[in-house]
Amino acid sequence: MPKSWSNIDRMRPSYLEDLYSFLRFPSISTDGQYAERLAECAHWLVKKLTSIGLETQLVPTPGHPVVWARNQHRPGRRTVLIYGHYDVQPPDPLELWDSPPFEPVLKDGYVFARGATDNKGQILSHILGLQETIQQEGELPVNVHLVIEGEEEIGSANLGDFLSHNHDALKSDVAVVSDTGMIARGVPTLSYGLRGVTALEIKVTGPKMDLHSGVFGGAVANPITALAQLLATLHDREGRVAIAGFYDRVKPLEDWEREAWRKLPIDGDKLVLKETGVPELFGEAGYNSLERIWARPTAEINGIGGGYQGKGTKTVIASHAIAKLTFRLVPDQEGDEILKHLPKGVTLEITNGHSGPWYLTDPHSQIGEAAQRALRKAFNADVALIREGGSIPIVSQFRSILGIETLLMGLALPDCRAHSPNENFPLENLEGGIRLNKAILHELAG
Ligand code: BES
Ligand code: MN
Repeated sequence: MPKSWSNIDRMRPSYLEDLYSFLRFPSISTDGQYAERLAECAHWLVKKLTSIGLETQLVPTPGHPVVWARNQHRPGRRTVLIYGHYDVQPPDPLELWDSPPFEPVLKDGYVFARGATDNKGQILSHILGLQETIQQEGELPVNVHLVIEGEEEIGSANLGDFLSHNHDALKSDVAVVSDTGMIARGVPTLSYGLRGVTALEIKVTGPKMDLHSGVFGGAVANPITALAQLLATLHDREGRVAIAGFYDRVKPLEDWEREAWRKLPIDGDKLVLKETGVPELFGEAGYNSLERIWARPTAEINGIGGGYQGKGTKTVIASHAIAKLTFRLVPDQEGDEILKHLPKGVTLEITNGHSGPWYLTDPHSQIGEAAQRALRKAFNADVALIREGGSIPIVSQFRSILGIETLLMGLALPDCRAHSPNENFPLENLEGGIRLNKAILHELAG
C-alpha cells in the first residue's frame, strides 16, 4: 500500500486542477439566480466520474440535480453508498474575503475558496480515492454508489424522494460521508452523532404601511418592538432556552461520554475562544463548550430585519418586522418547537423552513470499528470519537429509508471557516482523505 501512496506527489498537479475546477463553480443553492451554475457544476462531476470509469447519471429533481455514479456491481460484495454535496453557502460578506471566493488560491498548503472544505474538497478526496484505487488495482473492492446532491445547504428537501424512488437500486450496506470535522490537524475523527436543525421565519405585522412615528407613535404597537420582545422570551438570562417543554425529551449526557470527551487531546473552551474571537464564553450552565455544541439543543436567531436600514435617520414605525430562526435539536427531541408567547396589537405569521433530524449511532459497531481502523491507517494516529454540532439532514433518512447506518469521517479542521469568509482546506487533508477512502473501501470489503 505505501508504495502506491507515494503516487500522490506525482499526481498532485492534476488533483489540484480538479479541485480548482470544482471550486470555480459558484454553486450557491439558496439563490435561484445560480441554478444554471449548479447545473454546470453537476455536469462537471458527471464528466469527471465518467472519466474514472464509473457509470454516471444526472438525476433531475424539482430543485437542483443529483449526481449518481456507480461501478460495475458484483453479487456477494458489500455495497457502500458515498454521499456528499456540491452546493455551497453564499460567500457574503464579500469584502471580508482576502481573495475572491470562487477563484481558488493556494497559500501555505491551504486552498482558499467557498466550498473548499464544505464540501467540495472532501468530495474530491472520495473521487480521487476511487480513481487511485481503480488505477492501481483495476477495480474497486466493493460495490459503490456515489450520490452527490446540490441541496444540502438548504435542507435536502428533494433527496428523500430520490432515495425512496430508487430504493431498490440503491440497496447498500453502509453510507460513508466526509462532511464533518477533525478535532485538530492530524487527529483522525469519527463522528457518531449530529444535531438536527429546524428553521422558521417569523413575521410580525402592525400597521398597513410604514407610519410617521410622531403622528402615530404611542397609539399603535411597533412591530419591531413586539418582535424584539417576543425574541427576548426565547432564552433566560443564563442562556437556557425558555420555551415550555423544550428540554423534555433531551437525553441527558451520560457520564462515560463526558469522561471520554474530557480525555480528547483538545481544550474545547480555548478552541471556541480562539476561533470565534468572542470576549468570553457564554452558554448553558453546567456544560463545557464541547458538551454545549455536541449534545445540547439551541434556539438561534440567524437574521432580523424591519424598518429603516439606510443611512441617517427616518422617523417611521415600520409596518412589519421579520426574524429568521433555527433550532438545533438533539436526541430525542422531535420536530418543530412552537413559540407560545404571542405579543399584543400585532399579527404573527410563522413560516416553516427546512428541517433535518439529529443522528446518533454506535462508533463501536462492526462498521464503526472498520471506520476507526481506516482512519488510524490513513492518518497514523489515534482516532477521536465525537459528536458534532452541525447537521446533515439526509443522514437520518439513510437510516429510515435505506435502512443503513452512516460513517461520518470528516476532514474539516476547526479553523476551516466553513460558511464564513476565507473558507479553506489543506492539501494535507485532500491527501489524507484520499488515503482514507482507499483504506475504508478495503476495510469494508472485509
Ligand atoms: N458540513 C456541514 C455540517 C457539519 C458542519 C457537520 C460541522 C458537522 C460539523 C453541512 O454542510 C451544513 O452546513 N449543514 C447545514 C444544514 C442546514 C443548512 C440544513 C447546517 O448544519 O447548518
Ligand atoms: Mn455546510
